[in-house]
Amino acid sequence: MRLLVTGGCGFIGANFIRHMLTSRDDVAVVNLDKLTYAGNPLSLSDIEERFGGSRYHFVKGDIADAPLVESLLRDQGVDAVVNFAAETHVDRSIADPAPFLTTNVMGTQVLLEAARRTGLPRFVHVSTDEVYGALGPEGKFTEKTPLAPNSPYSASKASADLLCRAYFKTYGLPVVVTRCSNNYGPYQFPEKLIPLMILKAQANEPLPVYGDGLQVRDWIHVLDHCRGVELALMKGEPGDIYNFGSDNEKANLEVVRTLLAILGKPESLIRFVADRPGHDRRYAMGFEYAGKRLGFAPQIAFADGLSQTVAWYRENADWLQAVQSGAYREFMDTWYEERA
Ligand code: NAD
Ligand code: TYD
Repeated sequence: MRLLVTGGCGFIGANFIRHMLTSRDDVAVVNLDKLTYAGNPLSLSDIEERFGGSRYHFVKGDIADAPLVESLLRDQGVDAVVNFAAETHVDRSIADPAPFLTTNVMGTQVLLEAARRTGLPRFVHVSTDEVYGALGPEGKFTEKTPLAPNSPYSASKASADLLCRAYFKTYGLPVVVTRCSNNYGPYQFPEKLIPLMILKAQANEPLPVYGDGLQVRDWIHVLDHCRGVELALMKGEPGDIYNFGSDNEKANLEVVRTLLAILGKPESLIRFVADRPGHDRRYAMGFEYAGKRLGFAPQIAFADGLSQTVAWYRENADWLQAVQSGAYREFMDTWYEERA
């Protein structure tokens, strides 16, 4: 099976490509990535070395580039698209929503249209629990929860999900949508909570916690998410939506305190800063349907996954250094200066 994986130089895409190529021998991957500030080929240098020229092929390009996407689908003999490419950082979407619409909405439409025109037999679109909006203290999201996105990021992801639905209903395109809760693990860009806090704590810098820090996220290890996407690709029913989660709700403050304890750093590093506008209070993912229909079951316990993740960032200081480009530093400086 020849896959066009988009956004494969990002956090989850890179883990997915590594997982697929190292755990199976019936898969080849074309990785289409624009290499935005969040994409780094370094995350796949081992894969390039091992599979480059045979089962792995990298193409630098934009999913919103219609002629490029269509020619890749036609010329590379692609059997399925797995769409990870996106602008993904909620804070950046608050500062400037435009690129989120260009990539997440228009880019997805370009991919869907190319898939329709070429008669592609399989399309997996990777989405998020954030499309469901915020929960109160009780209950969990299911695939039937109405879409109620609150940030420009989640609104753009919900829009893409609806386009997937429309392409299935109108054209019969065999699209599967997956929605996952917050991921953590190796190669996550250090703008997201867990790697950012590891980086700051290691440097003995203040750890910026938004508001009261009691917002709840439902953390899943990236490898468990990748195994879910693999199941959706191999066994998903066209037109279906699958939620993936890990039954692992944690308040942000608890996560930050646990990281400090693992790193042997004092809690006095915690700084409460101005809250994120429109901040969703709680996410919790129900994934019974994916369990029943796909056999999905998360395998990695949070305590183990978090310790391994801290160890990975400690051992990969070069990667961390390399991904912090000028564009990264510029955004981080302005955003956190305003919140302090
Ligand atoms: P990321 O920001 O780490 O990586 C995104 C990748 O997409 C980068 O390599 C970037 O260069 C690439 N990209 C961006 N715009 C592009 C374009 N126009 N054309 C081609 N490539 C482009 O993101 P991530 O955390 O790996 O998330 C991957 C996907 O999973 C996203 O669709 C996201 O919405 C979804 N998701 C993420 C999480 C999470 O916790 N990180 C949870 C659920 C769903
Ligand atoms: P994030 O990793 O940005 O993921 P998302 O917003 O997609 O859930 O944030 C996770 C949680 O951590 C979220 O409730 C916001 C909070 N947060 C902070 O408190 N401080 C920070 O500096 C960041 C980046 C996030």
